[in-house]
Amino acid sequence: MAPVSRLGGRALAALLPDLRTLPGPVYGALADGITALVLDGRVATETRLPSERELAVALRVSRATVTAAYDALRADDFLTSRTGSGSFVSVPAASRVRPSLARWTTAGSDAPDVIDLSCAALPAPPGVIEAAVASAATRVSQFTRHDGYDPSGLPALRAAVAARFRARGVPTDADQILITNGALHGFDLLLRLLIGSGDRVLTELPTYPGALDAIRGNSGRVVPVPMAAAGGWQVELVQATLRQTAPRLAFLTPDFHNPTGALLDESGRRDILRTARETGTTVVVDESFVDLGFCPGARASAAIDPSVISLGSLSKPVWGGLRIGWLRASTDLVHRLAALRASIDMGGAVLDQLVAADLFGRLDEITAARVAGLRPQRDALLAALARELPQWRVTVPQGGLSLWAELDAPLSTPLTLLATQAGVVVVPGSRFGIDGTLERFLRLPFSLPAERLDEAVRRLAGVWIRLGHSGISTRQLVVA
Ligand SMILES: Cc1ncc(COP(=O)(O)O)c(C=O)c1O
Repeated sequence: MAPVSRLGGRALAALLPDLRTLPGPVYGALADGITALVLDGRVATETRLPSERELAVALRVSRATVTAAYDALRADDFLTSRTGSGSFVSVPAASRVRPSLARWTTAGSDAPDVIDLSCAALPAPPGVIEAAVASAATRVSQFTRHDGYDPSGLPALRAAVAARFRARGVPTDADQILITNGALHGFDLLLRLLIGSGDRVLTELPTYPGALDAIRGNSGRVVPVPMAAAGGWQVELVQATLRQTAPRLAFLTPDFHNPTGALLDESGRRDILRTARETGTTVVVDESFVDLGFCPGARASAAIDPSVISLGSLSKPVWGGLRIGWLRASTDLVHRLAALRASIDMGGAVLDQLVAADLFGRLDEITAARVAGLRPQRDALLAALARELPQWRVTVPQGGLSLWAELDAPLSTPLTLLATQAGVVVVPGSRFGIDGTLERFLRLPFSLPAERLDEAVRRLAGVWIRLGHSGISTRQLVVA
């Protein structure tokens, strides 16, 4: 199998701690350091490591030291060497954490004392859906005279979505919009149409687990690019990975990334989009959280490069239960996707789309209220973490609905398992990556009132102390 991406000697050296300050032989510290980078998702699995000689020069150690470290990694199955093509990092089966794909269902997750932080999603704003349904009901009879099938979506809703893109500086006609059952549905349709078995799809690492499942479900091969340790994109690494792997698609969430809440600035967007054009990669941006920013947003990706395919949704700003999303692409691609969709579900529900069209008229007002409510919740969660778990490292999210905490030990799954006993439902970091890595991280949504978040962190801090006495077995998780 061809390498997914390469890491040079200097790049790897920059990721490692100063080996001479660590106890024990240098080769052992080097092997441990590389193992930690792989398990923490800082170096993606299948990355080709530099040659022994190149790494020895970069680290200013003897070649024998690197040889011994690589031998130790091979012995533990963290490195696979293929004659003529180099050495590739991997994760041995025994070290992989495998959260399953199904929703974690437990009788009692609605119990008053259970704090459910498994989803980065909000309940609907009070009364808003009810009012939109009442308004839609008065208009539905215009449609019941016809057959009601339209796989592209209700014209009035397509027009409203197109107008919103234009307001963000992205010239868009209504026939460039496909209405979908949420952003994930749009991504799945794209994957069905645009990738073949084994095609590469670049993603951020961590990323939204539903996207990873959709890629794998369509027989794609995930090419993960680690986000920076301090948060945000490593733009040059994204560009290098695009060049090295020429993926068919890139799935990015530059507008308040799930789970980190980071925002990619305009120059980063330009650089990535330019390189993607060079490598023939189609870029899909998921804008599910674009309206939930605590700072001014960046220029829309499709305004920088009109060939970008944008996914959007009412799930995060309004309510996931609506199941209304959209996709902006070329008119031709929208036609092809609509034809594909007609063979799957014939189109979306007219009544739901009428409700959505009504909500579009109030979307700015709704999202402004959302952000105003979310900001104190985010701040309350940050304050609780600083007080109860100061040893965890947290980057302040610029938007979205969650933060990404770096724990002081790679024990995210045991933590989440024990946390259920304490009445807190959270999803381990490994669910946001592949091959069981990212166990040092935990996604924490700030989607609940401040006092519930405060209590959740208090309970998590108690569990963190008790960790180590757990006898809980695997359970199932779904993540939004
Ligand atoms: C980045 C991202 N995309 C899509 C979704 C799913 O959105 P929808 O309900 O619109 O399908 C989520 C849910 O968490 C998400 O975080």
